[in-house]
Amino acid sequence: MSERTRGVGMGRVAGKIVLVTGAAQGIGAAIARLLAREGAQVLATDLDQARGQALALEAGIAFHPLDVTAEADWRRAIARVEDEYGGLDILVNNAGIALVKPIEETTLEDFRRIMRVNVEGVFLGVKSAVPAMIERARATRAGGSIVNLSSVLGMRGIPDNVAYGTSKGAVRQLTKCAAVEFAQRGYNIRVNSVHPAITETPMVARELEEWSREGTLGTQSLSATRAAFAERLPLGRIGLPEEVAQMVLFLASDESSFSTGGEFAVDGGRLAV
Ligand SMILES: NC(=O)c1ccc[n+]([C@@H]2O[C@H](COP(=O)([O-])OP(=O)(O)OC[C@H]3O[C@@H](n4cnc5c(N)ncnc54)[C@H](O)[C@@H]3O)[C@@H](O)[C@H]2O)c1
Repeated sequence: MSERTRGVGMGRVAGKIVLVTGAAQGIGAAIARLLAREGAQVLATDLDQARGQALALEAGIAFHPLDVTAEADWRRAIARVEDEYGGLDILVNNAGIALVKPIEETTLEDFRRIMRVNVEGVFLGVKSAVPAMIERARATRAGGSIVNLSSVLGMRGIPDNVAYGTSKGAVRQLTKCAAVEFAQRGYNIRVNSVHPAITETPMVARELEEWSREGTLGTQSLSATRAAFAERLPLGRIGLPEEVAQMVLFLASDESSFSTGGEFAVDGGRLAV
């Protein structure tokens, strides 16, 4: 049996200190598990404390409650990382929320709620984490790494998705601004965005129900909506959280030492059509 199939990694991020947001379930949980298996010291964070603590216990990692929209929460989480681990190497801004609604029915408060979590949350994460990353980043050739979860919907339009799509487009651009700024300042911190297509998580289970209710893809049947989403992807299936986590692992690791400001699709070919 290989090391991989036994669940023991190859140490691709051995010794790295990592903070993952929205890690209680879905893609964030897969990222936290994989980075820990590959040798990182992972601090999983989430708004949902019960689920986050359960994940941490099961994966043998640490948990800290963190609402990404609250600057005081960020201060406390980063202070813990500095006190317990002596700094931070990798930040994964994964927490995000979705909304399926036609534009005329999207209230200003709906729009702001999505922007607050998906955009302000990433901004606060980058801003809060960088001071804790610089020293360790400068001491290594590959430097620190920030990975932001955007989406194919940050690059392509889809009906009934104005707030989410706009927020994910902003994450893509925030990533590029931060990447260029940190490179020019000599921080040695790389910043990249990851763009999944539809991935099997609790978020998507909820969204598929909403898309079928809205009839966004021309059907109100849940199974037909699911099939229609899969058919839009050249690979013909919905992705898995573990497949997104593998891309995040690459970007977090020193293997991606010459990549910054980039956009990395994990989309079954969606952006190629
Ligand atoms: N699942 C997909 O198809 C897909 C596709 C493209 C991009 N993404 C992005 O990937 C990321 C993860 O998505 P997922 O499908 O795993 O979602 P999910 O809803 O299954 O999990 C998201 C996690 O984020 C947490 N969270 C929500 N608001 C938070 C806040 N304010 N502070 C801290 N934590 C908060 C939730 O408690 C939850 O544990 C999101 O940014 C999402 O937009 C997902």
